Parts: sequence; structure tokens; C-alpha cells
Amino acid sequence: MNAVPHTLEDSATPPGFEAVAVLGDLAEGTVLQRVRATGEAICLVRHNGQVSALSDICTHQHFSMSQGDVMHDGTLQCAWHGARFDCRTGEVREGPAESPLPVFRVRLEGSTILVGPRSERIGPRYESHAARVE
Ligand code: FES
Repeated sequence: MNAVPHTLEDSATPPGFEAVAVLGDLAEGTVLQRVRATGEAICLVRHNGQVSALSDICTHQHFSMSQGDVMHDGTLQCAWHGARFDCRTGEVREGPAESPLPVFRVRLEGSTILVGPRSERIGPRYESHAARVE
């Protein structure tokens, strides 16, 4: 009898990426907290047909960004003091935060959302990463 191989998703998943949610968990215009295998909290944002992943820890005073709101202009607003960050680059769009919110690489495999390594910081923002929902 032949051994059954691991799933295609397992074999196709690039190194450093992990499945954290499915699209059905993340409605358009919402934010969702997830905890990576490393213990690091992240938040997933779905805005304008794209999914992005950012640190869940506000760079102002460490409040959970997943408690905030996704705004129409593509920013994520912290629920504590109102800082706003670009959902795709983490750039500060409104204070009191001064440092950008770290961004993570993200991809979709079917309806599964996978999050990978942290994006590279480029000055006041992180390299933009988002996955388009087909
Ligand atoms: S903790 Fe987020 S704006 Fe202050």
C-alpha cells in the first residue's frame, strides 16, 4: 500500500509562512487578531479586496491594534489614542504614534491566509505587502 503524502498545501507553503486563518474569518473592512507559532500577536486586515498582516502591538503605548477599526481610507486606527497606520505599509498617518507598525508578508492559498516573515523597513514605512482576494 502506498503512503499518503502530506497535503499539497504543506508541500507548497514557502519557508517561514504559516496558515493563520481563512478568508471566512475576516470580513471586508474588519481586523482580526491571530497569534503566530512564535507567540507573536499579529492582526489581519481586509480592506478594498486585499488582506494584509501587521503587528498587533501599537507602537505608541502597546495597545492591541486588533481592538481598533479599519477606516475607509485604508488605515487601521488604534482604539486607545487614535493613531492611524497605513494597512499595507504600516506608515503612521496620524499621531500620536511616531514609529510605523511592522508589516508581515502575506499570501493566499485558496481561502487560507498565510503569514510569513516581517517585511523590510524602508524609512518611515515597511515594504508594502498585501494579498488580493480573487
Ligand atoms: S496605544 Fe495606540 S495610539 Fe496610543
